[in-house]
Amino acid sequence: MQYTDWDQLRQDCGGCTRCPLYATRRSVVFGVGPEDAEILFVGEGPGEQEDRLGEPFVGPAGKLLDEMLYIIGLSRKNCYIANIVKCRPPGNRDPMNTEREACSQWLQAQIALIRPKILVCLGRIAAMELIRPDFRITREHGQWTEKNGIRHMAIYHPSALLRDPEKRPDAFRDLKSLQAMAERLCQRTLWEP
Ligand code: URA
Repeated sequence: MQYTDWDQLRQDCGGCTRCPLYATRRSVVFGVGPEDAEILFVGEGPGEQEDRLGEPFVGPAGKLLDEMLYIIGLSRKNCYIANIVKCRPPGNRDPMNTEREACSQWLQAQIALIRPKILVCLGRIAAMELIRPDFRITREHGQWTEKNGIRHMAIYHPSALLRDPEKRPDAFRDLKSLQAMAERLCQRTLWEP
């Protein structure tokens, strides 16, 4: 279904029962940010705190994501943040293919309404869904590719950076590349001082 307005999309997504995750969720974690954002970040799926609060990236990984945004002049005020699956996989396991497939229409509808210039995949699962099914995050993070007129790049998921701080220099380089691309393409984004 093609959505032309956010209210209908939000309402339909909020009542979704397309996969079994609906039965164990506390919230549908739809996404946050300006609906005309030029930059869209996509994570994997809600964790415990996100499920409780209904907002993406509000736990420890979210705190690091906020810091990552801050160092390149971005914030939740000037970019949109969403996930591949909108409901929490129990025990924070990876979302299954069937769950990703069932959920993909919601993110696709969000992308169609936002029409971002840049889409940043946070981690392997988002990159496999949105860039290529055989995407290898260790080899291909930081590389730009264009799909449907949108520049795509994957960076390490903040949870991976919390587990393995040795990945942080790579993540920093990728963020600087994102900053340079954003400065080139994004005219409407209000940068933080
Ligand atoms: N990890 C994700 O991928 N998404 C969230 O919303 C929180 C943690």
